[in-house]
Amino acid sequence: MENRPQWGTRAGFILAAAGSAIGLGNIWRFPATAFENGGGAFFLPYLFALLTAGIPLLIMEFTLGHKYRGSAPLTYARLNRKTEWLGWWQVAISFVISVYYAVIIAWAMSYAVFSFKLSWGKDTEGFLFGDYLKLAETPGQTGSIVPHVLIPLIIVWIVTLGVLLKGIKKGIEAANKVFLPTLCVLFLIIVLRAVTLDGAVEGLNAFFKPNWDVIFDGKVWVSAYGQIFFSLSIAFAIMVTYSSYLPKKSDITNNAFITGFANSGFELLAGIGVFSILGFMAKQQGVGVDEVVSGGVGLAFVVFPQIINEFPAFNEFFGFLFFTSLVLAGFTSLISIVETFVAGVQDKFGVSRTKSVLIGGGLASVLSLLFATQGGLHFLDVVDYFINSFGVTMAGLVEVIIIAWVFKELKNLQQHADSVSDMMLGAWWRICLSVVTPVVLGYMMFDNIKTNIAENYGGYSTAFVVSSGWVVAGAVLLVGLILSTAKWKKETVNNVSSQNKGAAS
Ligand code: ALA
Repeated sequence: MENRPQWGTRAGFILAAAGSAIGLGNIWRFPATAFENGGGAFFLPYLFALLTAGIPLLIMEFTLGHKYRGSAPLTYARLNRKTEWLGWWQVAISFVISVYYAVIIAWAMSYAVFSFKLSWGKDTEGFLFGDYLKLAETPGQTGSIVPHVLIPLIIVWIVTLGVLLKGIKKGIEAANKVFLPTLCVLFLIIVLRAVTLDGAVEGLNAFFKPNWDVIFDGKVWVSAYGQIFFSLSIAFAIMVTYSSYLPKKSDITNNAFITGFANSGFELLAGIGVFSILGFMAKQQGVGVDEVVSGGVGLAFVVFPQIINEFPAFNEFFGFLFFTSLVLAGFTSLISIVETFVAGVQDKFGVSRTKSVLIGGGLASVLSLLFATQGGLHFLDVVDYFINSFGVTMAGLVEVIIIAWVFKELKNLQQHADSVSDMMLGAWWRICLSVVTPVVLGYMMFDNIKTNIAENYGGYSTAFVVSSGWVVAGAVLLVGLILSTAKWKKETVNNVSSQNKGAAS
């Protein structure tokens, strides 16, 4: 008998899936990635990656979760007992991402408060690294915990675990129904103001003007795939878990298209907003847009506060809107990331949701303290890079190879998706997953490994890159393998056969 919780409405599921996809990656990663990789010309590889890998994989993950109705470990165990480790590997990757992702939300929360008085002052770089983060000089040093980071971090975990404790419908769905529309409204206000700023046109020109020379550069394609994977929350175990809560009658293919396009739409909006604002700043300083552009931490916490200082009016208000948007986008993603291990532990060890949230979430929140120390930013930089390059993308590659080639499951999955969806999947879907995606991702892996062996990421010392990068990437795989050897409670894995019949009818 199945008593798996379910989403209350279709819109609830789509909001939760889109909420997971739309995150920090859309606001601070996409604009700079697009700019560094050919501006307007980046859209070609980006669209190619979205249509040949992003959406096909999203359909596949939605189908897996819907068909096998389990967290990622249970779903993969039901697909074939030998693939359970893949589910745990992806869950372990999500676990690692959650521990630092929470800290970035905590920073954004602090900055939303700082906006009231523009507390970052004129030297925004000095403020971030010195006054706020009290950054350790040597990467690898932890130093002490920074109270200014600890307090918002505790709030982030209380909100996230509080939402998860309330369950799927009353917790995750309800939170996304509030957070995501609010985020869209706040962000629209920012973008509308941004495009009317003096200099916005120059910023948008820099963003959209295609540099076709880069189109034959393999790295540009690699970046496009990396962006799509992170941004769509693919190979994180998230989409499998979320779709396991779908009712049996659910249009999988349509849901995947809506989620994929909503995410890319938001990404484009973020690009337009960010570049209009960068254009404004470049004009104020009388320099080119390329001199003010930066990504990640630098863009959100150094360049933006600087721009907010120079805003013509309502500086505090726009600062608050921007950082609150980051907080909201972060929350809807963090909730989905933590849900992967909450669901995994619950399914495997047969414990209550409350226990699973407290054990899994509790452990993650304790470990996240490492990133709230004075050395936190250095750890975050290396862990984020390695877990994305050798965790998410590697797990995505292994996922398509195992499903398409080892167990040859694509036809069965297509049948399942077609049986519940309005839009029929064609051979294009199988070709994308069995040929195009493995070839491009395989090249990406090869290229990444080559680059990282030739030189240490970020110019860090070998000891630091090995201990915080390679070891973490290896450990998640090892943890996945170990967890998959634990025994299931009787009948859990086999239970799916009766559910499948119902699901396909
Ligand atoms: N998909 C989430 C993001 O873009 C993880 O941040």
